[in-house]
Amino acid sequence: MTRIPLAGVIGYPVGHSRSPRLHGHWLREYGIAGHYVPLEIAPGDLADALDLLPRMGFRGINVTVPHKEAVLDFAAEATDRARRIGAANTLTFTETGIHADNTDGIGFLRSLAEGAPGWTPSAGPALVLGAGGAARAVLVALIDAGVPEIRLTNRTRTRADVLARDLGGPVRVIDWPDRGKGASGAALVVNTTLLGMTGQPPLDFPAEVLDPAMTVTDIVYTPLETPLLRDAAAVGCTTVDGLGMLLHQAAPGFERWFGHAPAVTPALRDAVLAP
Ligand code: ATR
Repeated sequence: MTRIPLAGVIGYPVGHSRSPRLHGHWLREYGIAGHYVPLEIAPGDLADALDLLPRMGFRGINVTVPHKEAVLDFAAEATDRARRIGAANTLTFTETGIHADNTDGIGFLRSLAEGAPGWTPSAGPALVLGAGGAARAVLVALIDAGVPEIRLTNRTRTRADVLARDLGGPVRVIDWPDRGKGASGAALVVNTTLLGMTGQPPLDFPAEVLDPAMTVTDIVYTPLETPLLRDAAAVGCTTVDGLGMLLHQAAPGFERWFGHAPAVTPALRDAVLAP
């Protein structure tokens, strides 16, 4: 008898994760007899969990905070992008061990392609705000896509300097107080900071530097329309909310574990957003 395919998300805590809802929607939509579950794994239990989950019938797992960096140490094989990002969000359990990938960057690019079809990597410089883990994935994606110039700015400048040094390519660091000037002539503005998220202060960004030729995107999706996106839309910019990245980053894992390439649809967005 073939085993029912299992997958899940590990995190600590993990209750906030939208991934069970997202994969659950796809499992129902495609009539797949599988399960996707949230797994709260404390850091000290990570090694045991990664040893046991494949033996319990798990095909793979998504990984969220605080395990995204640590899981790389357990991978038999990791994609080049996961190594460069220094973190993995998608593990697949194979005969030869753990295969680790990071799909955040391609999720970001697919979301952009969907929400801003007029934007192309060669359209001009990109301004990236923030230098945390999400920024790393966005930067690797933009470098690999061929964006000619990337301006990186972060409240704590040293974190941006380290990222620029690690990743190389066309990344140039600018001071946080100069972030508005960094948008001059940019084709793309990306917020990867927490600012604008419910419960956080808004991103203080001068709306007068925005122009309608720009695409402005936020990785924050609670709320869907952050103050930055609201200002950008008022100016006439193309805006892309953060939910698309979350939905698109999930698709490669689902396909690997459950054998069906899933579609990102309005119904999926509704399922993930439902209270
Ligand atoms: P993640 O790995 O999910 O991206 P993170 O490493 O905590 O999360 O990064 C959060 C980002 O939001 C960082 O760029 C952080 O800036 P610092 O490196 O200076 O901490 C940024 N951020 C958070 N709160 C901020 C604030 N009040 N003002 C400016 N930037 C802020």
